[in-house]
Amino acid sequence: MSRSARLVPVTAAFLALALPLTACDGGVHGIPGGSGVSDPYFPKAGNGGYDVTHYGLTLSYDPARRHLTGTAVITARATEDLSAFDLDLKGLDVEKVTVEGRDARFNRAGQELTVRPHDDLDKGETFGVTVRYSGTPEQITDPDGSKEGWLRTADGALALGEPTGSMTWFPGNHHPSDKASYDITVTVPKGLQAVSNGQLAHESTTGGRTSFAWHAAEPMASYLATVAIGHYTVKRTTIGDGLPVYVAVDPKQERASRTVLAKIPEIMEWEELNFGPYPFSTTGAIVDRPEDAGYALETQTRPVFNGAPDTETLVHELAHQWYGDSVTPKSWQDMWLNEAFATYAEWLWREDHGGDSAQRTFTKLYDGTSDDVGDPDAIWAFPPAKPSSAAHISDPPVYQRGAMVLHKIRQKVGDDTFYDIIQGWAATHRHAGADTADFTAYVEKQAPDEDFDKIWSDWLYGKGKPAHP
Ligand code: TRP
Ligand code: ZN
Repeated sequence: MSRSARLVPVTAAFLALALPLTACDGGVHGIPGGSGVSDPYFPKAGNGGYDVTHYGLTLSYDPARRHLTGTAVITARATEDLSAFDLDLKGLDVEKVTVEGRDARFNRAGQELTVRPHDDLDKGETFGVTVRYSGTPEQITDPDGSKEGWLRTADGALALGEPTGSMTWFPGNHHPSDKASYDITVTVPKGLQAVSNGQLAHESTTGGRTSFAWHAAEPMASYLATVAIGHYTVKRTTIGDGLPVYVAVDPKQERASRTVLAKIPEIMEWEELNFGPYPFSTTGAIVDRPEDAGYALETQTRPVFNGAPDTETLVHELAHQWYGDSVTPKSWQDMWLNEAFATYAEWLWREDHGGDSAQRTFTKLYDGTSDDVGDPDAIWAFPPAKPSSAAHISDPPVYQRGAMVLHKIRQKVGDDTFYDIIQGWAATHRHAGADTADFTAYVEKQAPDEDFDKIWSDWLYGKGKPAHP
């Protein structure tokens, strides 16, 4: 989605004089697309002027040399007349770029790969971009100190992308406001495996190398794309009326994860009951070693865990499939919409499985007696809908205090309407994007007789600890 400002168009008369006829066969000349989409926390992420509909990534990785060779075939639609556009790509060498089959000029500045097609693109036009690239992909350190991007592991690699790490392994429109379907084919030395999002469509070995072709049919934000390369014990099953489950576990984590992963069918069923129909055509998990990443991530259809997860973490990452993956934040400011729901899913699981009620969890957090957070005051550091900076988008106000906002809504409307709201929210914005204003408007529409102003002003947007629980 483009939010870049258009320049004042040059008049047609001037164009006709200034340009040779052959250069303006498309009418008014295009202008360059923007180099970001004005995200309040990551201003350079994403690009203006086009919308990606599909990524076809063909990757080959050699863990011994840490060398990646890639071809990205990007299908996009111009949302403006374009003379040039940017892709985000961090590191790596770009060998060749074509647009609609013709060589394109390109140059690089930081994470911006600027592509100047041979012919201007018309607003509304669907076009194909092919980028050939290679090199050693980078690991990056987030503003909050966590590591993401292309992580090296003991037996291969692990690609994680929240919030911006996916630009270390493929060029694209790396902002959650632009979702697309994906085909990711990864070739690795025979004996290793490559796991990614969606369904394994094809696997073949030739000349000592094995290719794994993954098809992610439903729209996906690039931060939810993953590739895990290494040795995995794979279990393929189905649940419900045939939903495929693909679980890949590092052999060293197998014993510790067996019992918890066996709960996937039960958790999925419970989440469908609470959140509505599962939005994707496959599910599963990837369990790597604890040291491979310091955290779990809700990568689409196949969340990644840093070692055997506990049940609540599994509940959390699977809940993200509805809240975050299917209903995706329009900007990183709306991150609480992901984490509040996934955290509240843990509270509900607890409540339904003999633990504290959600009310009790809420009260303990308010009173400062909860074990869910280290520093009890940390949840009051800033309002969920307005993180203090990019370094804090994954802090307790976004998670626990965000979940408290949902609990305040439940207190006000009662259980029946509350479950209607959380299911309706997932259904209304299924496979799309939403922001905080969309959410508050949706809640108000579902309970038109209630006044939510205090909840929004004190709990969602207000500074400090609200005076009353
Ligand atoms: N989204 C992850 C979760 O809650 C946590 C996380 C990992 C994260 N990396 C991040 C949050 C980067 C914000 C930014 O399961
Ligand atoms: Zn989360």
